Amino acid sequence: MTRDPHSDPKRPTLSRRTFLAGAGGVAASGALGAHLEAAGAEGAQPEPAILRGTVEITLTVNGRARTLQVEPRTTLLSALRDRLELCGTKSVCERGNCGACTVLLDGEPANACLTLAVSAVGRAVTTVEGLGDEGGLSVVQEELCTHDGLMCGFCTPGFAMSLTAVLARDPEASLDRIREGCAGNLCRCGTYPHVFQAGLEAARRLRGGR
Ligand code: FES
Ligand code: FES
Repeated sequence: MTRDPHSDPKRPTLSRRTFLAGAGGVAASGALGAHLEAAGAEGAQPEPAILRGTVEITLTVNGRARTLQVEPRTTLLSALRDRLELCGTKSVCERGNCGACTVLLDGEPANACLTLAVSAVGRAVTTVEGLGDEGGLSVVQEELCTHDGLMCGFCTPGFAMSLTAVLARDPEASLDRIREGCAGNLCRCGTYPHVFQAGLEAARRLRGGR
């Protein structure tokens, strides 16, 4: 006859409540340990200001120095939109999937939603507001308008940045190269053929083939 292990009087009792309380304690002690380690203060009391504090940074955005206070966790997207009121950079997925937040960092496209503002210090940040000049839109922007490269327009600033980057790298960019350069940009309205046509025409103009 088999013995029921649950009826063993020597077996320690463990209710669901005590299990959860113990697991919570382990998790909390792990988080606290990580916090203390991050603060570099073994044995010291955790200092909440470490988590809440802001830092002053100066970003170079569209050729202009902009000084602002950010939390270390603030994304470049949030800094641009919420602090500097440069709302041309769009916030859509905020997880690197759509490319609507594309900006240029030292000329290379980057997702502002995945970039910490503090990591952009010392780099040239270009947003869609910085593409044209006082004379008007950039060639890429003009061709996006001419070729109807937008419907709702939410993806358009991101495409403008990616097209600008690919044409700066490769003035002879083919259709395939332009498509590849925009691979990180999604358009829910399906304007891709118009966007790519705009890119080809912009390339032709920038090569001097007006
Ligand atoms: S908002 Fe940054 S990739 Fe979508
Ligand atoms: S034009 Fe609407 S998402 Fe691209």
